[in-house]
Amino acid sequence: MAGIGEEFFKRTIYSRQRQFTGSRPKNPAEPFKAYAQKPRIKLENPAIPDGSLWQCLKHRRSRREYKREPISQKQLALLLWACQGVTSEIPGFFLRTAPSAGALYPIESYLVLNRVEQMEPGIYHWNILEQSLELLKPGDFSHQIEAAALGQDMCREAAAVFIWSAIFARSTYKYSDRGYRYVFMDAGHICQNLYLACEDLGLGCCGIGAFFDDEVDVLLGLDSENEASVYLAAVGKC
Ligand SMILES: Cc1cc2nc3c(=O)[nH]c(=O)nc-3n(C[C@H](O)[C@H](O)[C@H](O)COP(=O)(O)O)c2cc1C
Repeated sequence: MAGIGEEFFKRTIYSRQRQFTGSRPKNPAEPFKAYAQKPRIKLENPAIPDGSLWQCLKHRRSRREYKREPISQKQLALLLWACQGVTSEIPGFFLRTAPSAGALYPIESYLVLNRVEQMEPGIYHWNILEQSLELLKPGDFSHQIEAAALGQDMCREAAAVFIWSAIFARSTYKYSDRGYRYVFMDAGHICQNLYLACEDLGLGCCGIGAFFDDEVDVLLGLDSENEASVYLAAVGKC
């Protein structure tokens, strides 16, 4: 029998037959919360330091329009490193740029490359330990990834579309159903790293949660059970 984590995942997928279904509250929730009756300490607006991290945090936006120019292979390598690069090795673990619950790293990175210098267009998997890109399918998949992302044209116009999948058992083997929560937190950390790295390199980036799960999985050759796509991001020059 499927655990509740797996059931939650399956009941929240998008497919062409099943979009925007499921329960939702009658009214929207208040966007901000305040404890009106409690004492408060007013903080000054912080002066944002000049350092690159602070400026990237300040200026980061989701950018959805890209130039047709390719990004360089060096930029791509930097972005992949920012997402999941190995930064330290301790017995049994390869620690990375992004945190991961239990250092179990359930997230795999795939790329649909549309326009990257010195790289054939196609679908790639990132081999983290070797720091190499494995070409799974050569060809122009820009239209297919656009269609699979509910027709969001940024996926066709992007130089690269990052696709993160989860190998759930890496996490659930230790954490059972709760592992499903951690998988999505991990993906969020990775994507935020990508946003900030793009901002620093002057590239545009947009996280994408709206996609047909099954179509993206078929594109990558994933079985949707043991490994399934969970989050995408488009990247391009802007
Ligand atoms: C989990 C998640 C899923 C998102 N999915 C999409 C998406 O499918 N399409 C899109 O255009 N933007 C998507 N976004 C970007 C949000 O729309 C964006 O972050 C939000 O409007 C705030 O704007 P900002 O990122 O420029 O600050 C997503 C962001 C997150 C965090």
